[in-house]
Amino acid sequence: MNADKGSDNHLPHHLSIIMDGNGRWAKQKKIPRVMGHKNGIDATSNAIEFCLKENIAVLSIYAFSSENWQRPKNEVRLLMGLFLDAIDKHAKQLHINNVKIIFIGDISVFQDPLKEKIKKLTKLTKNNDKLILNIAMNYGGQQEIIIAVNKILQENKHKKITIEQFDKYLDLDQIAKPDLLIRSGGERRLSNFLLYHLAYTEIYFSDILWPDVDDKVLYDACDFYKTRQRRYGKIAQQITANN
Ligand code: IPE
Ligand code: IPE
Ligand code: MG
Repeated sequence: MNADKGSDNHLPHHLSIIMDGNGRWAKQKKIPRVMGHKNGIDATSNAIEFCLKENIAVLSIYAFSSENWQRPKNEVRLLMGLFLDAIDKHAKQLHINNVKIIFIGDISVFQDPLKEKIKKLTKLTKNNDKLILNIAMNYGGQQEIIIAVNKILQENKHKKITIEQFDKYLDLDQIAKPDLLIRSGGERRLSNFLLYHLAYTEIYFSDILWPDVDDKVLYDACDFYKTRQRRYGKIAQQITANN
């Protein structure tokens, strides 16, 4: 592990975001929850622009959790429609902006039109290299670990496994772990996002509801990150001696 990375006034290399608070944003405005999700997509576009502008290499966003299926049927249906629309609206520009899009989570359960768009977008952008955008859809951190374990059992190749080998079975295979996690919307929990990968991630909680998250909030989070000393179990003097 790279013990000094992030302690030297750098922006995060890999930013991850739990985009929460769309429903409460809509409730405050006395408008339907779906309008919160719609405006949330604009905030997501802005966060992608932010990463492009600031040369952040990887952005991982939580769009729909494995547990979100338990929401009222109508909200789930409207959300699926918004995902379709969002891909239609933004795919071309994301490709022009040299963004490589990877979907993590189990997309096999989505209806065919959405599944097709996801596959097409993944294929279209697969050689892009300015920003890697991981979109977690029907994703759960526990599920990701269990899927990996089941693959290993099925292969029956390993009697014992190292962290490096295990990493290869996970969805974020070969991509450096998140340096910073932002959760908007005031909750202070992980809600099953990237459980394995967040082991040494710095965490920034903001009370701002996701549709209101703008550059100011993102810069505040990055400023917080710059103040952190990442020790990875060592003591402070060992880290400063390296700099
Ligand atoms: C996050 O906003 C979006 C999804 C989970 C899809 P929420 O819909 O959870 O918003 P709140 O937490 O109810 O305000
Ligand atoms: C986490 O938010 C999932 C996404 C942001 C996609 P939730 O709103 O589902 O989380 P809980 O239920 O408050 O923990
Ligand atoms: Mg929520």
